[in-house]
Amino acid sequence: MKEVQVRASRTYNVLIGSGLLPTLGQEVKKVCKATKAAIVSDTNVFPLHGKAAIESLQKAGFDVIHFVIKAGEESKNGSVYLELLNFLAENQLTRSDCLVALGGGVVGDLTGFAAATFLRGIPYIQVPTTLLAAVDSSVGGKTAIDLPAGKNLCGAFCQPRLVLCDLDTLDTLPQDIFRDGCAEVIKYGILYDPALFDHLAQNGLSFHREDVIARCMELKRDVVMEDEFDTGARMKLNLGHTIGHGVEAQSHFGISHGKAVAIGMAIVARAAASRDICTPDTRDQIIETITRFGLPIQTDYNADLLYHSALSDKKRSGGTVNLIVPTSIGNCEIRPMPVEEIKSFIEEGL
Ligand code: GLY
Repeated sequence: MKEVQVRASRTYNVLIGSGLLPTLGQEVKKVCKATKAAIVSDTNVFPLHGKAAIESLQKAGFDVIHFVIKAGEESKNGSVYLELLNFLAENQLTRSDCLVALGGGVVGDLTGFAAATFLRGIPYIQVPTTLLAAVDSSVGGKTAIDLPAGKNLCGAFCQPRLVLCDLDTLDTLPQDIFRDGCAEVIKYGILYDPALFDHLAQNGLSFHREDVIARCMELKRDVVMEDEFDTGARMKLNLGHTIGHGVEAQSHFGISHGKAVAIGMAIVARAAASRDICTPDTRDQIIETITRFGLPIQTDYNADLLYHSALSDKKRSGGTVNLIVPTSIGNCEIRPMPVEEIKSFIEEGL
């Protein structure tokens, strides 16, 4: 097992290893004084891992209740959020009780936002069961629900008490969902770590899971400790996301987040090379590695459509979008770009 400590506005551990779910109860006991634990999960994950989570929490003495949402991004909305709050209120959870997010990014974001706001804040634990949640959304305290106008537009920064990532849960993921998470893993290599990037380029989907996930968590931990509230360095985690969100939105979420981010990273790599921000070799390494994972590098949406979506990006400030562009493998820079320039930048990368 590997352990990564995050010291942000709250200090907590990220545990990564096989066979951890049965230890959930004892680990939760170490970090909060709850008598009741409310598991929030979804219709895909709960049938697979709900029983093990409940048994472990009960064994540790918790009174356990559960709330299961329909799997999918469309559940991350205001009415499901209110249903969850009402469920917690009806079951009389107090500020010393806790929520346990058992699932991927949707469950983690929704649960975290409920925890941030119910009774003005109660403890929560992240138990990510997708690669994407394990390496990104479960750590760092970004919580949110979507609004009709866009993804994650209503949320709060609220750090969990613990992140417990049982690698065995990743074995139950459909290959395509696992592949989706790989886009975020490749992102860390491009952003910060040539050795991680090389390992991914060499091994493809057979990368060493425990080492790689722990390394991604260390890298994210460092960024969150430097810029918890996302005003500077943390923006780099948005590599591929500004244009990727455009692809996701244009496809009405038919193209998954990971695939959209892969396309976004490929577009910025091509555009960066065409502007001599990075070398053609860096561009080719990025494109080849994304392809090696079976992730897409092209989209049929044109620059005009993607540009309009980029304008609603949360990282926009006034008339400028902070675009993250690779300069070499392991290094990226934040380029404030006037909105009128974004369209031609995207065009160069298509
Ligand atoms: N998912 C990007 C971040 O946590 O900042």
